[in-house]
Amino acid sequence: MPLVMNDKPAPISRRKNISYDLVAYGLVGFVLAALGLVAYTLFGAQLHSGVNWLFSLDSQQAMWYITRSAGILAYLLLWLSTAWGLLVPSKLLEPVLHGNFTYDFHQFISLLSLGFLGLHIFILTADRYLPFTLGEILIPFSAPYRPVWVGIGVIAFYLILLVTITFYLRKRIGMKAFRLIHTLSLVAYLGALAHAFMSGADSSLVAIQMIYAGTFLVIVFLTVYWMVILGRSSSGKSAVGSDPVQIPLTRSE
Ligand code: HEM
Repeated sequence: MPLVMNDKPAPISRRKNISYDLVAYGLVGFVLAALGLVAYTLFGAQLHSGVNWLFSLDSQQAMWYITRSAGILAYLLLWLSTAWGLLVPSKLLEPVLHGNFTYDFHQFISLLSLGFLGLHIFILTADRYLPFTLGEILIPFSAPYRPVWVGIGVIAFYLILLVTITFYLRKRIGMKAFRLIHTLSLVAYLGALAHAFMSGADSSLVAIQMIYAGTFLVIVFLTVYWMVILGRSSSGKSAVGSDPVQIPLTRSE
């Protein structure tokens, strides 16, 4: 007798699981926060002196060192993300890397860059020598130090924020708008480079100058390469992508 396969297994209710998970995570978070608060109240002073003993965080230079190193890391990650975005439509990576990986990696390093940027900016408010107010950080050209070049950094920051946010909105705004906004990442990169070179204390170091020059030349080369293949694809000779980041709309989240 043939086996009739019309009894579908009952669908698993994912909603319930998700809400239980959320409650569990919320509870764990709450308990950890409460424990942290108790520990801080009891041992806060010892914690402060321990951290200061380890890192000299109360010295005048500590915050300055942190903001500078975070700025340089943010710049390098932004450069990598921009270069990666220019490499993707060239399809040079296709034989060695899976499409979804190249996309996820691109998104990941953009977020990482934004994280270090957050540190670079936030620490400025705690600087002992020249503390910035929130307004001076967020309003372009209002900084107490090199206002023009820091202002260009603020604009670059907003552009990076815009480009990163649209990673998550591309289905809503459509691929055309997404690609157009994504092209702004080149402007953001150039702004960040100008800002870093003109306002950084480390720019007088030959090693830093070589890093800025080398990374800039890579971007120039990849941009020219991208424009060449863009020209070819629009004249119908090649099927390569027409944007710095070629992303399928249907990628699973
Ligand atoms: C709200 C936006 C920003 C503000 C307020 C800001 C502020 C500053 C300031 C005050 C300095 C000088 C630090 C020093 O004394 O050396 C600086 C340097 C620097 N910034 Fe920014 N910045 C912003 C955005 C950016 C962005 C978008 C990047 C790159 C992704 C960046 C990367 C750097 C780098 C690499 C330096 C040089 C560090 C050094 O040479 O010591 N900053 N920034």
